[in-house]
Amino acid sequence: HQVAPFDYIIFGATGDLTMRKLLPALYYRLTMGQVPDTARIIGTARSPLSREEYQGRARDALKRFVKADDFDEDTVERFLDMVHYVSLDGSKAESNWDGLREVLSHKADEHVRVFYYATAPDLYGAISANLAKEGLVTDDSRVVLEKPIGIDLKTADEINEGVGKFFKEKNVFRIDHYLGKETVQNVIALRFANPLLEAVWSAEHIESVQITAGEVVGVEGRAAYYDNSGALRDMVQNHLLQVLCLVAMEKPASLEADAVRDAKVSVLKSLVPLDKDTLRNASVRAQYTAGHIKGATVEGYLDELGHESNTETYVALRAEIDTPRWKNVPFFIRTAKRLKKKVSEIVVTFRSPETSLFPARPGRNVLVIRIQPDEGVSWSFNVKDPTNDDFALWQSTMDVHFEKSFNTRYPDAYERLLLDAVRGYPVLFIRRDEVEAAWKWVAPVMEAWARNDVPMAHYPAGSWGPEEARAMLARDGQLWHEDME
Ligand code: BG6
Repeated sequence: HQVAPFDYIIFGATGDLTMRKLLPALYYRLTMGQVPDTARIIGTARSPLSREEYQGRARDALKRFVKADDFDEDTVERFLDMVHYVSLDGSKAESNWDGLREVLSHKADEHVRVFYYATAPDLYGAISANLAKEGLVTDDSRVVLEKPIGIDLKTADEINEGVGKFFKEKNVFRIDHYLGKETVQNVIALRFANPLLEAVWSAEHIESVQITAGEVVGVEGRAAYYDNSGALRDMVQNHLLQVLCLVAMEKPASLEADAVRDAKVSVLKSLVPLDKDTLRNASVRAQYTAGHIKGATVEGYLDELGHESNTETYVALRAEIDTPRWKNVPFFIRTAKRLKKKVSEIVVTFRSPETSLFPARPGRNVLVIRIQPDEGVSWSFNVKDPTNDDFALWQSTMDVHFEKSFNTRYPDAYERLLLDAVRGYPVLFIRRDEVEAAWKWVAPVMEAWARNDVPMAHYPAGSWGPEEARAMLARDGQLWHEDME
């Protein structure tokens, strides 16, 4: 459906995220008929660019990040007509606010106003204060906050306070783009629309869960940000914990935003705190060393940086959720740069039945929910080995590839989220208490690592990660997915 006319005011409009994700996402939604032609995208950044120059950059971004087949010259022109630019430093009280006011004044009453903060998060408070002081925040104005919301609980609180003074919580949309992924939302459908799964979704039948977000890319052009952040802050505190919440939450009362967020936040609050003693066995942090990716030699993390660093490019954690449903079920979560394969997936391993019917104990059933790429679901289960007369079993796999089944393009996560903010539909955004609960859980890990309580492990680029992570699963009698047969 088409959304109401809007003004998207982007702070950080010349940055990588705007070019790579935001502009292409809005373009795609225009091609799908969801964006009215009267909508406007108003880029702001410090660079002194003219509107035409910025439109030129926007065109280049579409050329680069929209699939060639989807780059339609007429639609691109319509899109660029929507694009405006105001040279402005949003964090400074004395800046070109008149320029922004002037552009906004034309459609003041008819357009939904959405401010998108894609700058350094420590500026979010100042930008909000300036917008309010300039009288640009209406009762209905929404604000979208890019991650990371802080680097710990304290800074997250400061950011949330700074923004919360000027925007009501219902108008604050904290992005976690993993929630915008179709296959992440699909976890809700799989779990609650299929009695077969719902009936076995607990410790009684599930032996372990693993959630992986593996990347082949290194830190790309973002070393300065990444080295201050590391994989735990960059991926675990937000994306991976959100996925874990959807896998583990109790059935929400409805699909209304607060019902789903209530269910998620109670998972976060039920995560067993990791402490100094448990962390040694329940966390692995590592950096990649030089290695090979697709036949090419790549540098190690420290060589790429050019200096020493205590920042992890790999994390694996063993989490437990203290609820009756999940008593003693380990949840292994891991993420890394420079792994062998790009893969985000959820692997649910079921307990194998204790039966003496067969010559050998049946293998475990495994359900794999592939978030990306090759979105889909596979299910490995036991069948009789047709070549054996003694009831030997054979592990067979059913595999559904969504792109084939639905014959559809898988949209980028930002597409849906950007328009949900216009609609004022917050279910796929993070509530303040979720951010806080997530920071609280990762805090002891950050602290222990900072004290070097857990030694830094290493893995060659292009591998599946350090041996220590394999050992962590072995202690629970489990294997990472790539090590399963
Ligand atoms: C971002 C991280 O939030 O997610 C990046 O900052 C990471 O470091 C990216 O590469 C991964 O997203 P996706 O959608 O490619 O899995």
